Amino acid sequence: MLFFLIRMDFKGKDIISIKDFSKKEIDYILDYAKDMVRYAMGEKYKNVLGGKVLSSLFFEPSTRTRLSFESAMNRLGGRVIGFSDPSGTSQKKGESLADTIRMADSYSDAIVVRHPHEGAARLAAEFAEVPVLNAGDGAGRHPTQCLLDLFTIRTEKKKIKKNKIVLLGDLKYGRTVHSLAYALSLYGAELTFVSPASLKMPNEVINECKELGIEPTYTSNIEKAIKDADVLYVTRIQRERFPDAEEYNRVVGAYKIDNNLLKNGKENLIVMHPLPRVTEINPEVDTTPHAIYFKQAFNGVPVRMALLSLVIGGKL
Ligand code: CP
Repeated sequence: MLFFLIRMDFKGKDIISIKDFSKKEIDYILDYAKDMVRYAMGEKYKNVLGGKVLSSLFFEPSTRTRLSFESAMNRLGGRVIGFSDPSGTSQKKGESLADTIRMADSYSDAIVVRHPHEGAARLAAEFAEVPVLNAGDGAGRHPTQCLLDLFTIRTEKKKIKKNKIVLLGDLKYGRTVHSLAYALSLYGAELTFVSPASLKMPNEVINECKELGIEPTYTSNIEKAIKDADVLYVTRIQRERFPDAEEYNRVVGAYKIDNNLLKNGKENLIVMHPLPRVTEINPEVDTTPHAIYFKQAFNGVPVRMALLSLVIGGKL
C-alpha cells in the first residue's frame, strides 16, 4: 500500500493548527484514518498503543471530542487518564496551565487539551516534551475536528476539490469553521459564507482563503446559497463566547435547517454539523439522506486513532 511505501514521520509532532500541515501531510493522515475505520468500529483489533497512556485534559465541556479521543486510544490498546471538569483539579487552588501540563507530560505519552483561551494549546506544547493535540482552544482552532470534517467530505463526495461548500451560522466564534475554511481553500473547494451580519467570518480567515487562491462569496440568503451546493456545513451560535447576552438574543434562531428549506437544494446535498446542535437543524432532517452529521461525529474515532498512532509512534 502507498501508505507503507512513503511513510511520513509524525512521531512526537504537536497537532495545534491545521495550518501547520501541508496538503500532502493531510492526505497522508486521511488515508491512514481510512485504514482505521474497521478498527474504530470494533470489527478488527490490533494492540497498536499497548502500554501507552494519553492525558485527556478538558478545561471546557465536550462530548464528541473527549469521548472519541478516549475511544480511539482504547481501540488501539492504550489507556487514558485525565479530567473533564477542571473544578476537580488543582487549578482550583491556583495552579497554572503550565504546571498542569508539566504533570501530564510526566505521566503520559501524549496530551489532548481543550481550553477556553485561544493559544492555550500552543502554550501547552511549549511546556510538554510529549506531543500535544489541540482539542479546541477558545474561538481559535480545532484541527482534529477539521481533519474529521475533511475525511467526511472526501468519503461522501470522493474528493474535496471543486465541491461547492456553504459554511453557515456563527462564523465569528465557531472555531471549527475557521480551521475548515482554510483547509478547504487548500484543496480548492468553492466557498460561500452565510451568517448574520454580526457573526461574519473574521478577516484573518478570509485573507487566508484568498492567499490560497479562493475568493469566498457572501450572502445572507440561505435558500439561494444551497441551490447548487454540494455540502451545507451548519454551525451552532456559540452562546458561551458572546461578551453580552443581548447580542446573543438578537441572532439566536437566525437560521433553521428543515426539510422544507432542503427542497431548494440538490438531491445529493449533504448536511454536516460539528455538533452539538441546539435549534439550527430540525430533527426531522435526521432521517433524510442529507443528514451526515452523526456519521461525521463517528469519523472522529478513526481520524483520532490515526493521529494518536502517528504522534505516539505505534504502527497499524
Ligand atoms: N464537535 C465538537 O467539538 O463537539 P464537542 O464540543 O462535543 O467535543
